[in-house]
Amino acid sequence: MWGGRFAAQPADAMQAINASIDVDKRLWREDIEGSKAHADMLAAQGIITKEDNAAIQSGLDQIAAEILAGEFVFSKELEDIHLNIEARLTERIGEAGKRLHTGRSRNDQVATDFKLWVMRASREAADGLRALQKSLVAQADSHADWIMPGFTHLQTAQPVTLGHHLLAYVSMFERDRVRLIGAALEAAWECPLGSAALAGTSYPIDRHRTADALGFHAPAANSLDGVASRDFALAALANLSIAITHMSRLAEEIVLWTSPQFAFATLSDSWSTGSSIMPQKRNPDAAELIRAKAARIGADFAALNAIVQKLPLAYAKDLQEDKTLTFSAFDGFALSLTAMIGMIDTVRFNRAAMREAAARGYSTATDLADWLVRELKMPFREAHEVTGRIVRSAEQAGVRELALLPLSEFQAVEPRITEAAQALLTVEKSVESRDSYGGTAPQRVREQVERWKETFA
Ligand code: ARG
Repeated sequence: MWGGRFAAQPADAMQAINASIDVDKRLWREDIEGSKAHADMLAAQGIITKEDNAAIQSGLDQIAAEILAGEFVFSKELEDIHLNIEARLTERIGEAGKRLHTGRSRNDQVATDFKLWVMRASREAADGLRALQKSLVAQADSHADWIMPGFTHLQTAQPVTLGHHLLAYVSMFERDRVRLIGAALEAAWECPLGSAALAGTSYPIDRHRTADALGFHAPAANSLDGVASRDFALAALANLSIAITHMSRLAEEIVLWTSPQFAFATLSDSWSTGSSIMPQKRNPDAAELIRAKAARIGADFAALNAIVQKLPLAYAKDLQEDKTLTFSAFDGFALSLTAMIGMIDTVRFNRAAMREAAARGYSTATDLADWLVRELKMPFREAHEVTGRIVRSAEQAGVRELALLPLSEFQAVEPRITEAAQALLTVEKSVESRDSYGGTAPQRVREQVERWKETFA
């Protein structure tokens, strides 16, 4: 394709380091879409004939059919997807095929193809997050009033409802979705096609026409920027990385919750693995691998960022590695999503173990302090002190839950404490009382479940 000025063949390793076809063959749809729009525009501008355009259009359609049928032979000698398709086109339609590459370069071609791919993949990732949200909301719905410990510092803090805990992730994934869709919309603003190698072209091309045909708002206003920039991919990888960080925290909780020490949950057989030596084991491998994928996707972002940040304008071949990193990140993300949805849909929670753990560690002590403030008008600092002394006597008496401590023990510290106050110290009453907007009360959780269901409808 560029052999005119060369007398000798490239070294084998030169070809090995240079060829990207194994990776970028995934851009074939976008490449054909871009070429069709480009050829139509060339014909409309009188740069190629209508007959040549017709041959190019049907030739490209036939190539698409060949690729779909698995009949297309991808060749390393032809480096990348762009040259592979163009060479096949010329093989099929002759002369006209050689006219397609007028007024464009592989530099603007790849920037356009890759941008289209990233935009579509980002929207698909956002759809995948929506599916995960639906699974989480369904579980939150059936566990709106199940009680579990809420943690700070992984120490039991206050009881919360399981539904509330699961919905926290639904909120995180909503922001992740919005970020992914937002970046895809931003990427759709400018079309690189027609930037040519770097400086634009002397042919009378119509860049507005191709931008429009490919679903962009406008042609890139600067041709150097058009071919040199990859911030659309960086934004997608950053957004994916944040989203899978959230998924990784959920995965981490699955690992903790399914351990015999917590015993809050059991993964279904289809989402557990056994040990080759310890017959009793059920391991949460999928959750662990999601944590590892999160690390890798963050590294994909960091790698592409490092590649781009040292490049003088405009195009340099370093940019070819953008696709390996981006495809790997989107693949890892999609697989992680599927695994997470599978686990969430089939996990079983252990109500008794969660409730028991929620009451441990005198988790309703704040409720007693709040009662002292509300009913006795005690300053909060003093209420904190009084409650602390009651917790200490419960500890000394070996009573596990504040609600189980005899009333006389409360009154020994503060005589005005009533039976009604003591009755508020169960974990059930505690979560019911936290009914502020966004709070953990089952009533609030059910409202949020309804709100999400309306959002999904
Ligand atoms: N395979 C190349 C890439 O992905 C296409 C652009 C090649 N441009 C060039 N001047 N060699 O970046």
